Amino acid sequence: KKKPIIIGIESSCDDTGVSIIQNRKVLSNIIIHQKIHNKYGGVVPELASRLHDQNIARAVQKAIFSAKIHRYQIDAVSFTLGPGLIGPLLVGASFAKSFSMGLDIPLLTVNHVQAHILSHFIQNSNINNSYPEFPFLGLVMSGGHTQIIKVNDFFKMEVLGSTLDDSIGESLDKIARMLGFCYPGGPMVDFFSKNGNEKKFVFSKPKVNGLNFSFSGFKSDVLQFIKKKLKRDNFFLKKNLSDICASIQNIIAEILLDKIEKAILQTGIFRIVLAGGVSANHKIRNSFISFSKKNKEFEIFIPKKEYTTDNGAMIAITGLLKYERNLFDSIHITPYSKFKT
Ligand code: KG4
Ligand code: ZN
Repeated sequence: KKKPIIIGIESSCDDTGVSIIQNRKVLSNIIIHQKIHNKYGGVVPELASRLHDQNIARAVQKAIFSAKIHRYQIDAVSFTLGPGLIGPLLVGASFAKSFSMGLDIPLLTVNHVQAHILSHFIQNSNINNSYPEFPFLGLVMSGGHTQIIKVNDFFKMEVLGSTLDDSIGESLDKIARMLGFCYPGGPMVDFFSKNGNEKKFVFSKPKVNGLNFSFSGFKSDVLQFIKKKLKRDNFFLKKNLSDICASIQNIIAEILLDKIEKAILQTGIFRIVLAGGVSANHKIRNSFISFSKKNKEFEIFIPKKEYTTDNGAMIAITGLLKYERNLFDSIHITPYSKFKT
């Protein structure tokens, strides 16, 4: 019997992602980035919606073409229901619903945060080249989210901790902007940190109880520190850019590891699954790898770079997992900006 073919549509923020998956294998994975936001220092929702509308049909056509299938072979369509920006979500939802009606195939809705975690169930999507066993602790770190999630099964997730203010990616992007980088600045901080001395500058770690996070204080701390230094020395940033970037990442990695150690103690679960755009960061990846080398019983799953940031494949795999469990949705469903995990 033919294995079901699922198309996944992601449009929660500034990337239009469309992917086709069969048997947990990616047949195609198209992503159209919106460059327009670079100069604004963040995503402009109105512009993002408009560009999704301009790009989505082309992304779907491309995905079908490069999967080397005919659109009538697709068995179901999945799309991001939230969380995210409402305008961009509505564009994806409308397209997915029309596609489902036009081809007379079922509709599947996907929680974006869950999808980041479930991307590990795409074949060869992580550097481990294996699927994590349940239960595990998911650490989602992205532009919109910072959460520790206990994952008991594909769709049985329990949020153990969240950020109380800014997400990790958001604060990193704001710091990066101060350093003179375009949006999104996270990858630039990563790039410039490579030859830096990560012990040169010390920033205070936020004090937050339990498994919650806070990054807005940390962000202000770094910004104040840089402003102060710049008052005395105009070239402070120029001279110390690599060391600043490396030092910021060093503290962020420590914050994340501290919380994960706490979560491990609290739950007795030793399996950690990283997800989201910020998990592309080389310092964070390396810190978690050395953490697992020091503690042999810990297992760390790290996504390949193309599956860290937003993509259609994570929506398609989540759609496939729902399809296999008959978790279909009605055509009347509508996106939620604040969809809870
Ligand atoms: O998961 P994602 O693509 O979108 C959301 O769901 O929010 O994450 C985007 C975030 C941005 O804040 C971006 O700066 C950050 O991921 N990011 C990185 C790196 N690549 C992307 N942050 C640090 N180092 C990177 N290499
Ligand atoms: Zn995301």
